[in-house]
Amino acid sequence: MARLVITGNGPLRGEVRIAGAKNAALPVLAAGLLSAEPLQVSNVPGVRDIDTAIRLLELLGCVVKRQDDSVHIDSSGVNNVRAPYELVKTMRGAVLLLGPLLARFGEADVSLPGGCAIGERPVNEHIEGLRAMGAEITIDSGYIKARASRLKGCRYAFDIPSVTGTENLLMAATLAEGDTELENAAMEPEVADLARLLNGMGARIQGAGTSIIRIRGVEALHGTRHAVPPDRIETGTFLAATAATRGKVTLRNTDPSFLLHVLTKMQAAGVRLTWGDDWIEVDSENTRCRAMNVSTAPYPAFPTDLQAQFMALNALADGVATVVENIFENRFMHVAELRRMGADIELQGNTAIVRGRERLQGAPVMATDLRASACLVIAALAADGDTTIDRIYHLDRGYAGIDDKLARLGGIIRRV
Ligand code: EPU
Repeated sequence: MARLVITGNGPLRGEVRIAGAKNAALPVLAAGLLSAEPLQVSNVPGVRDIDTAIRLLELLGCVVKRQDDSVHIDSSGVNNVRAPYELVKTMRGAVLLLGPLLARFGEADVSLPGGCAIGERPVNEHIEGLRAMGAEITIDSGYIKARASRLKGCRYAFDIPSVTGTENLLMAATLAEGDTELENAAMEPEVADLARLLNGMGARIQGAGTSIIRIRGVEALHGTRHAVPPDRIETGTFLAATAATRGKVTLRNTDPSFLLHVLTKMQAAGVRLTWGDDWIEVDSENTRCRAMNVSTAPYPAFPTDLQAQFMALNALADGVATVVENIFENRFMHVAELRRMGADIELQGNTAIVRGRERLQGAPVMATDLRASACLVIAALAADGDTTIDRIYHLDRGYAGIDDKLARLGGIIRRV
């Protein structure tokens, strides 16, 4: 099993190009099932979860062509509506196939994803929302079996504003009969981007990116081209890595408007930041940033997907920070690993109290999930000596070519 060996080597310096967002690309690829005409998607990140999504589409009968960061999907020959456990268990985002399959083909058999390292992660909102649209849904031998001759528009209010739940219902409603109103919907930029794509395919959606989304169902959607927006979580990861190593890096091909909460917090902690429409420069040379309190919440607040990376930064910051995880009940697995590197972190329920240390020490550690892996990479880059990170396959699920990108910024990093 591949490991990363990172030798702490001081400041990251240079320029890095941010990839397209994994969590925006996944619903966009699933939306390729909604029309028999082809969908051409660009700026798709080269990460393992995208490989898995493409394998799933091919298994359903789509013809998918991939070249560099472009993916062309022809779903005119779909002949199967089953997304098997073997693939779904490796990528929970596969649940996004449920809405489009049901809407276009009237049936979908999608494996229940099962447990996850960061929390229980139920999909009851997806199921209840589709039931409200008239679908008959049973759970049979570990599979969500959904049937509907044609979905019907409805009003559905989310108990919790689930991101992929909103995306699933949004996709389903585009082909439903009549009007749908989604209330307490997720407001993440990935939802707004999906709606932009769907409207480009002929859907009639208003309000995506706010908590109330209105969809007027249409008979059919058509093909289009779409560019995936920059990855705000990869952006935040490089911001944290640069600040932790006291470096100076320009991030290109990003969108600072997706991260204003994080940028403001970093500035308040003494990190020098400047940005334009599609770039951010972070300058932490010779500067140890101050501790930053973090409390995760749905967009536009602090993203849970950056909590671990900013825990690493806080472990090296000046002062004491509280980090509160409000989205997932078990997203502190990186704490024990950071402690192995000398971090001073106390856990009280869903709150971590992080007392910043001047230095961390390299150690053998284990990655437990995607963002926890990124947290350990950041800590390792800033630590004294060597860190070996085991189970690095988690990192490859969501970061495109991260070893190369860090190496070009001066990180000493090798895969063994
Ligand atoms: N929830 C329910 N019932 C549901 C759905 C969600 O109770 O039916 C709860 C979850 O247990 C959680 C909260 O609602 O406590 C929010 O979960 P959400 O459904 O929004 O998460 P998700 O859609 O499964 C997406 C991202 C995650 C990201 C979360 C939160 C994708 C493919 N995944 O997951 O990304 O953490 O939103 O922002 O978009 C990652 O990239 O590392 C990652 C985990």
